[in-house]
Amino acid sequence: MTSRMHDSLSQTTELRPFGQLVTAAGKQVSLADVVIDTLLEAVSAAKVVVLRGYRLLDPAELEAYCRMAGEILQWNFGAVLDLDVRDDPQNYLFDAGDVPFHWDGAFANKVPRFFLFQCVQGSPAGAGGETVCCDTTAVYREAPEELRALWHRTTVSYRTDKLAHYGGLLTAPLLSSHPTTGETTIRYAEPLDPARYRNPLFLTLDGISPEEAVLVMDDLRTRLHDPRYCYSHSWQTGDIVVVENHGLLHGRNGFTGSTERHLQRIQII
Ligand SMILES: [Fe+2]
Repeated sequence: MTSRMHDSLSQTTELRPFGQLVTAAGKQVSLADVVIDTLLEAVSAAKVVVLRGYRLLDPAELEAYCRMAGEILQWNFGAVLDLDVRDDPQNYLFDAGDVPFHWDGAFANKVPRFFLFQCVQGSPAGAGGETVCCDTTAVYREAPEELRALWHRTTVSYRTDKLAHYGGLLTAPLLSSHPTTGETTIRYAEPLDPARYRNPLFLTLDGISPEEAVLVMDDLRTRLHDPRYCYSHSWQTGDIVVVENHGLLHGRNGFTGSTERHLQRIQII
């Protein structure tokens, strides 16, 4: 990292197995003081950047800040989504359960390059609700050749009802090419079983036999969650986490304790 972002740092720590934690040099530093292009360069390199100790922005400021880097994905609620646990959730994003792996924008017209969360209210230690990011470029690189050959033939169709701000039908190859680096990525949204989730997501795999489809889905269920490929973030109040969306999948662990956590999310195309 260079220029103004670097000036404002007191500490940069590598996260495991990937990612970077940047702690602000002083209490007066705001996210707005970080040059967004420099921040996103760092995210492209590290895949996940956690900023800690920076003053958060209000939603309008956050949108204006992110818009300096590109178009902002707009939804029926606007640009900034409040992620909190609600009393009467229509969608699993707003209940206390887990959110299986997916990539953002699958059901939108445009897939964001990055998304940014800011944590208005964190979770006490041990409360669960960690955000988990899987580096699918590493999963692909280290997968056995015969499995990769199966993946290359696989197309996945997704179907979900629109119960929140997204929904519909989507068909996409299981593998894609990262638009910037050219690396092979896995684009996979894990199925949501109607017995467990408010808004089921049904998958159909084509291009391979039904037996191979079962094998591929069973394997992905464990392979994508291998800790060698996953960064898990426990939220503290004030954390800002920026994630590279094209190469990673992400999800959330279920809450096991307090559900007071409140995040705000914005997506940059
Ligand atoms: Fe997401």
